[in-house]
Amino acid sequence: MLGIRQVVLSALLTCAATGQKAITSTGKNFTLTGDGMSYLFHVDPINGDLVSDHFGGPADDFTRPANILGWGWNSELSVLRREFPDVGRSDFRLPAIHIEHADGDTVSAFRYQSHEIVQGKPSLPGLPATFGEAGDVTTLILQLYDNVSDVSAALSYSIFPKYNAVARSFSITNNGTNEITIERAASFSTDLPNLELDMIEPHGDWSHEFNTVRRKIDYGETTFRSSAGYASHLHNPFFALVSPTTTESTGEAWGFNLVWTGSFEATAERFSNGYVRVLLGLNPLHTSLRVQPGETFQSPEAVAVYSSEGVGGMSRAFHDLYRNHLSRSKFTKETRPVLLNSWEGLGMEINETALVKLAGEAEELGIQLFVNDDGWFGVEYPRNNDSLGLGDWTPNPAKFPNGLRSYVQQVNNFTVLNSTTPLQFGIWVEPEMVNPNSTLYHEHPDWVLHAGKHQRTLTRNQLVLNVALPEVQEFIISTISRILDSAHIQYVKWDNNRGMHEISHPSDDYKYILGLYRVINNLTTRYPDVLWEGCASGGGRFDAGLLHYWPQHWTSDNTDASDRLTIQMGTSLVYPPSAMGCHISAVPNGFNRRNITIEYRGHVAMMCGSFGLELNPEELEPEERALIPAIMAEAKRVNPIVISGEFYRLAHPDNSNWPGVQFVSEDGAQSVVFAFQQLYTVKPAPPPLRLRGLDPKGRYYNNLDNATYTGATYMSGGLNVAWHRADYQSKLIWLERE
Ligand SMILES: *[C@@H]1O[C@H](CO)[C@@H](O)[C@H](O)[C@H]1NC(C)=O
Ligand SMILES: *[C@@H]1O[C@H](CO)[C@@H](O)[C@H](O)[C@H]1NC(C)=O
Ligand SMILES: *[C@@H]1O[C@H](CO)[C@@H](O)[C@H](O)[C@H]1NC(C)=O
Ligand SMILES: *[C@@H]1O[C@H](CO)[C@@H](O)[C@H](O)[C@H]1NC(C)=O
Ligand SMILES: *[C@@H]1O[C@H](CO)[C@@H](O)[C@H](O)[C@H]1NC(C)=O
Ligand SMILES: *[C@@H]1O[C@H](CO)[C@@H](O)[C@H](O)[C@H]1NC(C)=O
Ligand SMILES: *[C@@H]1O[C@H](CO)[C@@H](O)[C@H](O)[C@H]1NC(C)=O
Ligand SMILES: *[C@@H]1O[C@H](CO)[C@@H](O)[C@H](O)[C@H]1NC(C)=O
Ligand SMILES: *[C@@H]1O[C@H](CO)[C@@H](O)[C@H](O)[C@H]1NC(C)=O
Ligand SMILES: *[C@@H]1O[C@H](CO)[C@@H](O)[C@H](O)[C@H]1NC(C)=O
Ligand SMILES: *[C@@H]1O[C@H](CO)[C@@H](O)[C@H](O)[C@H]1NC(C)=O
Repeated sequence: MLGIRQVVLSALLTCAATGQKAITSTGKNFTLTGDGMSYLFHVDPINGDLVSDHFGGPADDFTRPANILGWGWNSELSVLRREFPDVGRSDFRLPAIHIEHADGDTVSAFRYQSHEIVQGKPSLPGLPATFGEAGDVTTLILQLYDNVSDVSAALSYSIFPKYNAVARSFSITNNGTNEITIERAASFSTDLPNLELDMIEPHGDWSHEFNTVRRKIDYGETTFRSSAGYASHLHNPFFALVSPTTTESTGEAWGFNLVWTGSFEATAERFSNGYVRVLLGLNPLHTSLRVQPGETFQSPEAVAVYSSEGVGGMSRAFHDLYRNHLSRSKFTKETRPVLLNSWEGLGMEINETALVKLAGEAEELGIQLFVNDDGWFGVEYPRNNDSLGLGDWTPNPAKFPNGLRSYVQQVNNFTVLNSTTPLQFGIWVEPEMVNPNSTLYHEHPDWVLHAGKHQRTLTRNQLVLNVALPEVQEFIISTISRILDSAHIQYVKWDNNRGMHEISHPSDDYKYILGLYRVINNLTTRYPDVLWEGCASGGGRFDAGLLHYWPQHWTSDNTDASDRLTIQMGTSLVYPPSAMGCHISAVPNGFNRRNITIEYRGHVAMMCGSFGLELNPEELEPEERALIPAIMAEAKRVNPIVISGEFYRLAHPDNSNWPGVQFVSEDGAQSVVFAFQQLYTVKPAPPPLRLRGLDPKGRYYNNLDNATYTGATYMSGGLNVAWHRADYQSKLIWLERE
């Protein structure tokens, strides 16, 4: 009895001494405590392995593990729930870490050595990661050692209690005298007990990003990956595990997201005993990382979030964590300028005259930022179409006889409608790519990803520069710096329009992505006042790694407003709407010929942090043009609440003909609701639009009924929109607290 009392007392003293109770250790038992979540694991006293006890709702004590009969082939490690599973020694499930040693042996035996708890969070060298001060986050670092192979591991857990989030990563140090090769590295790994679970997973393609599928976690592996070298449109390094009864607003949800831009693999493996192993990390096809004696490999970071408030609660935890502790741009929490992008209006048929004219039309519409898209560069190989010029980042002299500076001055000379604020200028680049038809490629054919004598296969007539090479990194840094120094450029759209094909060695992907981070870290540090937007044929690299440096990402090349509802709601599963770029484009839509009203297109676009137009104003119908001032005014009014408010998916287009979303301002004084009718139906009646996130006792005025109701009424009863007899209708509804 006395012994236990002493242990408890010492734990309490630790809390009192630091003023924190986010992480406590009693002996070798560790408890990570969030506001509504606990994460418990301990060191197995016999084999030194890390054993998972609990990841879920609040729990205080270490309880007895499930009683599994250790007969048959599965015993020892196979019946343990493990935090950092390695290979060999009786565990038949997939490992988090797989190392091939110099003698070809692939068995590892990592045992606990020591641990420390630090306030705040050390940064990860060369990698994007969540960050925070003491008081925001506490970190537990465990030292593990394989004394047979002479390899050590440092496993790090950082808990952000306010968001019920744990960020995890590890490093591997080769303490021996021979090279080792890392074949698998899952940044997050834990074993959940035998719970009924579904996986919610994004899948898609170009112009079809972030559709979602929900499937049962059955025996064996439920897995998906990207082998494209980047996160890609096919999948995203994110998934949720939920109870079968979990809904958007109720039930348990665990979300997992890798802070990484390269290939990845995500797996949930249900073993014979029902335990579910969760793995999220590098794609083993693109790993095989050699670590020399004395060197250290650092894994990317993965973030896990727990919510007892359904899929929506999980999403809001990610949104808040990422806006406050991942995205480091000064723009992350600022409203964004309304932009007009030249692409859909002019394509590559551009020159100074045509662009200045377009900027003048933008001025008249109240645009704040004019973006010059593709087509502006190339001297020997003018960028007149996509088979020429990529890599030659000099303004084309025929199109810009006076260079960029005076052209940009002419754009800045326009003022934003009814103000004296200059119209801002932004530019498009695709620095990681090259056309074979370019001066760059003729000078440096060896700079592209290639594999010996294999053909260098093209996509969109272009090849990928190997950003792992220091000379390529220097080229991109100096080229982009030169452009930014040459004129008053306030925004950059950084595109990337193909995946990697001829990866010579599997580890080239990891090295490329580290090189890319070095380049982007350099440029964003040097040009902090530039608003950077990521793009990769739409949402092909909408990932947490790039979100660390850049505050926003183009969501999809598909700008059909109805398709966009699915894409944007899918993206919002993990990434905040404030980070999405969304534009109104012309009708009929270039993809599906749909003719959706400009109000609906406007409402869908203003649900995102970066709102804009992607059309030629001259081609607007007069009735559409007449509505633009009102849409611009609404977009500017909505933007602050999109940037900093809480986001609720009220109804998803997959499940409802009447989708809707809602934002609630940080102070709870305002809420804005976007409601849609996809197709007109004679019957049934539209369901009431039941709101969320309000104070049940608060009274709120709404401009739909022009009436004041309580929060409880909005949330339980709901609003009824009187839809017109037409397809693709939308409403923007404001609630003001009295
Ligand atoms: C530590 O965890 C083990 C395993 O769950 C448990 O048996 C033991 O009682 C725990 N010790 C303390 C001090 O909580
Ligand atoms: C490694 O450590 C374990 C546990 O302390 C010990 O039993 C074993 O003999 C050690 N092996 C080597 C090769 O040092
Ligand atoms: C392994 O090497 C690292 C880096 O030199 C060192 O900090 C660590 O103490 C070493 N571990 C062991 C068990 O020797
Ligand atoms: C500029 O581009 C426009 C539109 O493509 C074209 O009509 C015009 O002739 C061009 N002007 C010059 C000087 O090239
Ligand atoms: C691309 O532009 C070049 C140079 O203007 C031209 O020769 C070529 O025919 C164009 N290619 C295509 C596919 O339009
Ligand atoms: C180079 O440009 C020419 C002219 O546009 C085009 O016909 C050819 O296909 C291009 N080559 C490649 C490899 O893109
Ligand atoms: C900008 O406007 C000023 C005042 O009208 C004018 O003097 C100047 O030449 C203009 N600059 C450019 C680059 O058009
Ligand atoms: C701009 O000013 C004009 C004339 O005063 C006015 O009619 C218009 O509504 C204003 N537009 C905006 C967006 O403020
Ligand atoms: C960026 O890279 C350049 C060229 O290598 C270097 O001179 C500069 O110090 C770097 N700046 C930052 C902020 O990393
Ligand atoms: C789109 O629909 C509107 C309203 O029915 C109509 O006025 C307009 O002509 C249509 N536009 C196109 C390009 O079909
Ligand atoms: C509410 O007020 C607005 C603006 O005055 C008006 O357009 C709308 O018809 C009113 N709605 C109702 C239900 O009275």
